[in-house]
Amino acid sequence: MSARVVVLISGTGSNMAALLDAAADPGYGATIVAVGADREAPGLLHARRAGVPTFVTAFADYADRGEWNAALADRIAEYEPDLVVSAGFMRILGPEVVGRYAVVNIHPALLPAFPGAHAVRDALAYGVRVTGATAHFVDEGVDTGPVIEQVTVRVEPDDDVASLHERIKTVERGMLVDVVGRLAREGWTLQDRNVRFGRPAEPRGSIEDPGYATEENR
Ligand code: GRF
Repeated sequence: MSARVVVLISGTGSNMAALLDAAADPGYGATIVAVGADREAPGLLHARRAGVPTFVTAFADYADRGEWNAALADRIAEYEPDLVVSAGFMRILGPEVVGRYAVVNIHPALLPAFPGAHAVRDALAYGVRVTGATAHFVDEGVDTGPVIEQVTVRVEPDDDVASLHERIKTVERGMLVDVVGRLAREGWTLQDRNVRFGRPAEPRGSIEDPGYATEENR
């Protein structure tokens, strides 16, 4: 059975589009059941053209962050997702959403370096030689949740924010497609901050019957 995924975007949605393309293959294991945004994001058009339901929960329509988060959580709930993916969604999600769903975010830097909305600019200004992208589960902090996967990108001497971000987005897309597919197909476990693909092993036995006894030592 295919995992149901709701994708949240704020901008061009190139990462969401890559997920849509991947999900066209039934073997991918995930179906994009809806794309949501906090504004009339240009990427919504792409989803609509692909026949995927879209919704907008505009921040400005709500009295405060809590009300907006609660409204967003309710819109997401309509699609009964197994997983929510924040792919270029430029709002901080509150407990109303992250307490209810497993949410994956992608961030254009190697966390915990350069969290926040200006990761590419900050990495360039700091003068790092290597940066990259991170896929992580979202908790209530800003880019602080458990890391699922990371990829590196070298900073070239003549890079500006646009050129560096473009190269990061190229590898970020591949990583996101890979991570969402694996989470959907294999499941995951989370222990402390360590994310592992794969479902938890079935208990092999009990104290009375430890399960490892062979014919000889039984
Ligand atoms: C990505 O670099 C993502 O990491 C960041 O915003 C960008 C979104 O790009 N949070 P797009 O909307 O998927 O093209």
